[in-house]
Amino acid sequence: MENGGDVKEKLETVEDAVYWTRRRLEQAGVFFGHGTDNALDEAACLVSHCLRLPFEELQAARRQPLEEEARRAIETMVERRIQERIPAAYLTHAAWFCGLEFYVDERVLVPRSPIAELIAQGFRPWIGPQQEIRRILDMGTGSACIAIACAHAFPGAQVDAVDISPQALEVARINISRHGLEGRVHALESDLFASLPRRPYDIIVSNPPYVPREEMETLPDEYRHEPVHGLEADEEGLRLVAEILARAADYLGEAGILIVEVGNSQAALERRFPHLPFMWLAFAHGGSGVFLLTREQLLDFADSDGA
Ligand SMILES: C[S@@+](CC[C@H](N)C(=O)[O-])C[C@H]1O[C@@H](n2cnc3c(N)ncnc32)[C@H](O)[C@@H]1O
Repeated sequence: MENGGDVKEKLETVEDAVYWTRRRLEQAGVFFGHGTDNALDEAACLVSHCLRLPFEELQAARRQPLEEEARRAIETMVERRIQERIPAAYLTHAAWFCGLEFYVDERVLVPRSPIAELIAQGFRPWIGPQQEIRRILDMGTGSACIAIACAHAFPGAQVDAVDISPQALEVARINISRHGLEGRVHALESDLFASLPRRPYDIIVSNPPYVPREEMETLPDEYRHEPVHGLEADEEGLRLVAEILARAADYLGEAGILIVEVGNSQAALERRFPHLPFMWLAFAHGGSGVFLLTREQLLDFADSDGA
């Protein structure tokens, strides 16, 4: 875009529509954080969707005249975004994770975990370049974004994508099929490990619900469109994480690792499990509250403390 960001009253070009949308979003004070973190990126997503134009082609199309029908579609979508506070990804049914596109709707959380960065790096240095990765478990898979990104990062691996929600698994299956991964990514319904056959996974990765009940009340309206069971845990936010810590070692191979996102519940987790040597991972592109533990560490902990 290059008109300097001027907002015109009459929307004549694609570029005018992007800047108008950006200003409307900024003026309305909507919350960003469900796939985009600023008004311009979100405006570009909404406009490219209404024009049925791939996002990457928007820049080249900036001077094209805006058809009346497209203008109306953009205005309608922007009004819904503002009035109903629907995250843009649920309006466009598209979200990006690890450079891959995913179908999303209100049955699943909008993908945004910082774990994407770890997957893009092949979990290095915790997974060596020569290490053979055969089995990966994504616990609480939602849209299957983590499972599918892992399958792309480790082409030789089978990936189990587990969720308690049959509705979320419907979306997971849409994405598995769109990525042509039916032979390698398996959507499985289970309450955590309850119905999961015991297999030696090389990597267990999880972004479980971890928002404490009280904090749910304080979240911006956009979060109310996401499935509650994808966000809320219990008073402390640790119910599912504690269960994962207790069971993961049984499902890890000898050199296996567990990676879990707990976000703002990091401090509460450390208080609750003071003897566990959590390694909190650093992110170049933002995000925190993701820990790594090896199977060995989990077993030592079980011996000494009884998770
Ligand atoms: C925070 S969302 C993460 C979704 C996806 N992995 C992502 O990163 O976008 C948590 C997911 O865990 C699922 N979940 C909640 N309780 C569960 C349980 N007891 N067993 C398995 N999955 C569960 C929810 O349905 C939801 O899809």
